[in-house]
Amino acid sequence: MKIHTKAVHSGDRKRSGGYVPVATPIHTSTSYFYESMEQLDRVFGEVEKGYCYARYDNPSAAALEELMCALENGEAALACASGMAALHTAILSALTDRRRSIVAANAMYGATVGLLMNVFEPSGVSIGFADICDLDALRAAVAEAKPGCIVMESISNPLLRVGDIAAIAAIANEAGAALVVDNTFATPLLARPLESGAHFSVHSVTKYLAGHGDVLGGAVVTNRPHADSLRALGRTIGPVLGPFECYLTMRGIKTFPLRMERQCANACRVAAWLAAHPRVERVYFTGDPQHPDAAAIRSQFPAGLYGAMVSFEVREAGREEVFRFMDSLRMIVRATSLGDVHTMMLYPSMSSHRELSPKHRLRMGIRDSLVRLSVGIEAPEDIIADLEQALG
Ligand SMILES: Cc1ncc(COP(=O)(O)O)c(C=O)c1O
Repeated sequence: MKIHTKAVHSGDRKRSGGYVPVATPIHTSTSYFYESMEQLDRVFGEVEKGYCYARYDNPSAAALEELMCALENGEAALACASGMAALHTAILSALTDRRRSIVAANAMYGATVGLLMNVFEPSGVSIGFADICDLDALRAAVAEAKPGCIVMESISNPLLRVGDIAAIAAIANEAGAALVVDNTFATPLLARPLESGAHFSVHSVTKYLAGHGDVLGGAVVTNRPHADSLRALGRTIGPVLGPFECYLTMRGIKTFPLRMERQCANACRVAAWLAAHPRVERVYFTGDPQHPDAAAIRSQFPAGLYGAMVSFEVREAGREEVFRFMDSLRMIVRATSLGDVHTMMLYPSMSSHRELSPKHRLRMGIRDSLVRLSVGIEAPEDIIADLEQALG
């Protein structure tokens, strides 16, 4: 062979032999080679297990998907390029062969509201909103809209409302709708929506699961009835996660339960401290015994684990005062996102819910005095000290 040919072919396509790597390697190959066309045909036809093209399936994604199924007690998963790609794909899969109508929780991440109103609605899907924490109101909305799909967050962003997933799944099933639960804030440590009857559990793995602020990714987990439509959509639309991000996510997930336990414990201390501070008007925290959804929280989450998000309103503060307070933080990171090892603070009016109109935000209860804190794994005394000096 000429050097040009050798440069292309030499060294590759070694059999992996009898060894087993302890950590899943980063499989960057986009295509897979077989000894014969017959064998490739069998792999394409799924008669023989194997891989042909990375958008269809690849060993790095397959390993993460198996891990996600294990965490959520699901039967099929799709690793996606972002949480939004995962939500989009899950809702498309949920609507397959169902009525083109969605009832969504009236308190959710701003981009999810945008996905429904700016992507699904213009494509002919009717969208309605309901208070999923008021089961009678939800039943009425479902009876009127006859949705093919209900969409909710297991802990809502940013006001931390918690619906009863099993009761909502029963309402969905009765109406012939699929329930899609964004489980990003609760994580599988607190809630496993499929066990409660939901049809899809969705994650932005960017957050607690990967956990280090260095990977953007998402995942959909479901059970067998939806496995084929999820896989077909993954292949056709190609929202899939790259191999390097799969590797980083798997690496992050190894310590996720440890991190999350610590973050939940820290959040309890920080929320209690904030509640007693004179400059704080109101604290939103799922561990608060006075929380409006305390019964759903107690019945669904393990004792002592309430999540690690704390939202609060700064007393008599508008945008200018909140900016001054946030600019005064020294250790807490002023940035968008959540769930990382470091404590982060975000201003919902400016970032997570920026795309909603001020009127829509107010209807959701998001005032200009509201900030959202994602509590990290640092020493709780240091988190509190930083909040104290900045509030001062
Ligand atoms: C609850 C929730 N779901 C989904 C997303 C979207 O995730 P990603 O940024 O990975 O697309 C976010 C992002 O902040 C979120 O807070």
